[in-house]
Amino acid sequence: MKLLVTGGAGFIGSNFIHYWLKHYPEDSIVNLDKLTYAGHLSSLKDVSENSRYKFVKGDICSQKLTDSLMVDVDTVVHFAAESHVDRSILHPSEFVRSNVLGTQVLLESALKNKVKRFHLISTDEVFGSLPLNSRTKFSESTPYDPKSPYSASKSAADHLVRAYFHTFGLPITITNCSNNFGPYQNPEKFIPRMITNLILNQKIPIYGDGKNVRDWLYVEDHCWAIDLIVHNGRPGQTYCIGGQKKEFSNFEIAQKIIKLMGMDKSMLEFVADRPSHDRRYAVNWSKVHRELGWSPAKNFDDRLKSTVEWYSNNKWWWMPLKKQAESIYRK
Ligand SMILES: NC(=O)c1ccc[n+]([C@@H]2O[C@H](COP(=O)([O-])OP(=O)(O)OC[C@H]3O[C@@H](n4cnc5c(N)ncnc54)[C@H](O)[C@@H]3O)[C@@H](O)[C@H]2O)c1
Repeated sequence: MKLLVTGGAGFIGSNFIHYWLKHYPEDSIVNLDKLTYAGHLSSLKDVSENSRYKFVKGDICSQKLTDSLMVDVDTVVHFAAESHVDRSILHPSEFVRSNVLGTQVLLESALKNKVKRFHLISTDEVFGSLPLNSRTKFSESTPYDPKSPYSASKSAADHLVRAYFHTFGLPITITNCSNNFGPYQNPEKFIPRMITNLILNQKIPIYGDGKNVRDWLYVEDHCWAIDLIVHNGRPGQTYCIGGQKKEFSNFEIAQKIIKLMGMDKSMLEFVADRPSHDRRYAVNWSKVHRELGWSPAKNFDDRLKSTVEWYSNNKWWWMPLKKQAESIYRK
């Protein structure tokens, strides 16, 4: 199989490329990435010489480029997006351009080239936020209710992708996943920011009261879910992917990380909340479990421990990104 992966120099995309090359020795991958601040070829250093892997620097909004790259491609796995909620509050138009227009350009090329599967990576943030004290979870039938320019742009992309299935018969699938964590995640994001701050002996900031709840999905488990869906998911379907059986607040996660790193609570610092900060996300992933047999392979605490170890052992990767990562929070 030949795959076009978009946004493969980003966090999840680079993990996906590692995953796929390891599990499918017959397959080849073209990685199309614009290399924004979030794209790092260093995340793909160990596969850069692999004859089954090719990198193309370019923009998903360029129709000519995406048309040419999709000739002979069987499967498109579309990760490329502006993905940071805080940045979407500062620069919403970049989010509409890449996340909405870029997705539509890719859909056109996929249709022209008759690709066999177009898979979009989307987010549970399209469903909005859940009350802290409820037991409700997001599922495939939850109505859309995005709250940030980021989630609004991802919602638009989801609708476009489904429209290409209903209107043109393009064989699509979508995953709406919860917050990912693991290797190669930019140190501006919640878990790596906490780990790297502590490695540098700096305090870790907690937004608001720290009670916000996220559903954390280990990136390798996510890649496995995409694998199952790309191969056996039903065309036209959406699958929700989440990572946890038990929920933890941001404050509890900070405490777990502090403990894993042998430090104490004096390293915590409460800071002002951001605008329209969603309170709770929780994902019901029973559909992908029922239809395709997926569930997270290990528990959250084990995955968090491996993530702390990865950042401790791979300073070469995140140190050059740390200064820029912190500058976004000073704006
Ligand atoms: N990280 C998460 O927790 C999470 C959760 C749910 C959904 N998602 C979705 O998963 C996908 C990947 O997320 P991520 O965390 O790996 O993102 P990321 O920000 O780490 O990477 C995005 C990649 O896309 C590239 N890109 C951006 N605009 C582009 C354009 N116009 N043309 C070509 N390349 C472009 C960037 O250079 C970067 O390499 C995104 O669509 C995101 O919305 C992420």
